[in-house]
Amino acid sequence: MTESWVNYAERIGVDLHLELSGPGGRRAALTRALREAVRGGRLAPGTRLPPYRSLAADLGVARNTVADAYAELVAEGWLTARQGSGTRVAERARPLRQAVGAPARAPARARGPRHDLRQGRPDASAFPRAAWAASYRRALQAAPSEAFGPGDPAGRRELRETLAEYLARARGVRTEPDRIVICSGFAHALRLLFGRDTPGGTGGWGGPAGGGVLRGPLGVEGYGLGFHRDLLAAAGVRTVPLPLDEHGARVAALGRERAVLLTPAHQFPTGGPLRPERRAAVIDWARARGSVVLEDDYDGEFRYDRRPVGALQGLDPERVIHIGSVSKSLSPALRLGWMVLPERYVEPVLAAKGEREGWASVPDQLALADFMAGGSYDRHVRRMRQRYRGRRDRLVAALAERAPHIEVTGVAAGLHAVLRLPPGTEQTVVEAAARRGIALDGLAAFRHPDGPASAGDGLVVGYAAPADHAYGAALEALCEVLAAA
Ligand SMILES: Cc1ncc(COP(=O)(O)O)c(C=O)c1O
Repeated sequence: MTESWVNYAERIGVDLHLELSGPGGRRAALTRALREAVRGGRLAPGTRLPPYRSLAADLGVARNTVADAYAELVAEGWLTARQGSGTRVAERARPLRQAVGAPARAPARARGPRHDLRQGRPDASAFPRAAWAASYRRALQAAPSEAFGPGDPAGRRELRETLAEYLARARGVRTEPDRIVICSGFAHALRLLFGRDTPGGTGGWGGPAGGGVLRGPLGVEGYGLGFHRDLLAAAGVRTVPLPLDEHGARVAALGRERAVLLTPAHQFPTGGPLRPERRAAVIDWARARGSVVLEDDYDGEFRYDRRPVGALQGLDPERVIHIGSVSKSLSPALRLGWMVLPERYVEPVLAAKGEREGWASVPDQLALADFMAGGSYDRHVRRMRQRYRGRRDRLVAALAERAPHIEVTGVAAGLHAVLRLPPGTEQTVVEAAARRGIALDGLAAFRHPDGPASAGDGLVVGYAAPADHAYGAALEALCEVLAAA
């Protein structure tokens, strides 16, 4: 078998990998390989093939072998040969997947819903492209060459220093750069903490062989993201649901769990902040039992009633792992987050990440450091806070007028609100909304399967997701559905 990278980039600007193998000698093998490259779409219609002589030299075959192979493919209609313009892939030589009747264009990705009121999504149209691009440019210009080598699994120091300062100022987190490990978001943090693969393992799992940094059973809130529950279940972690009320999780129900995962600033999705006595109680529980609290600070920056609550971590940095990301504040597409760790977990988490950074792009980390240090992050968060507050106010006002029987619960915070529905109506309303082109979830979608009492019927309305110009229509459609419910 002869294998060669045919580099004819200087002539036609592409590399072509050809594998000459199979029966019938080199001419037959080359003909087959070229035919497959055209048929499979690797050589697009119109592409100019290299001259006989250079392809022959690259492959180590006789010039006539190439000439014969080209001639055969011209005769079959795969190639065309014209005086003065060389040999090209025929325009009608459509790739195989089209020849067998697939649509001529790549199938469009499933189109989004007409009205997107799904929770957890920031307004993607508001991504601060210009400021981010400016930060990216500055970061690339300032970065030392070593920044483009393998990354440190802790994350770039520039970012960890900026984050330590930002989190202290904006969220009341008590930490220092060496206690921060950069990750690709909350889900990745969970994987690192509970993964049971080999160090830096493939398949997205970190964790020392034979067990993660932490173990279950893990106390969780009776309502939460199913995706996170699935992720924990896949790691073999048993989750124990805690009852909830408007003051967050009833942490007095904690017993022998080894850790507990909470959303203290704004319970997800029901919307109550963890009341102060419970904040103190869960820290006491962790101290008494040698356990740890995982704080999911997913939308802590977005509080609209001028009563922001600081991070739980500030109460005891040795008993709380504080986890945040830019998924709500900037974009879930960036995949950048952070874990603020008690000292004893720093080394195990770094071991779980492996020898080098395998998830969070270093240039992106440097761009975020610049974005935060230069004030762009604060500006963006302030702008989005105003925008989302305005949207929540519009939602509340529209419901008061059009569907006064529907109550909005939870504090004025975050990117979603919960609308209470009369008992037994949730499923019908979700279906009616879907028929009207509205994508949203009912509360039941978030309930832990072994959960205690149901939190009742409700809709989880993500008011942040639509672009500004689309929000009014989405609200109107929602009001129509609710007024008729
Ligand atoms: C409850 C909760 N936690 C955390 C996150 C952030 O997840 P990630 O950082 O993995 O994007 C989300 C985002 O959807 C969320 O809803």
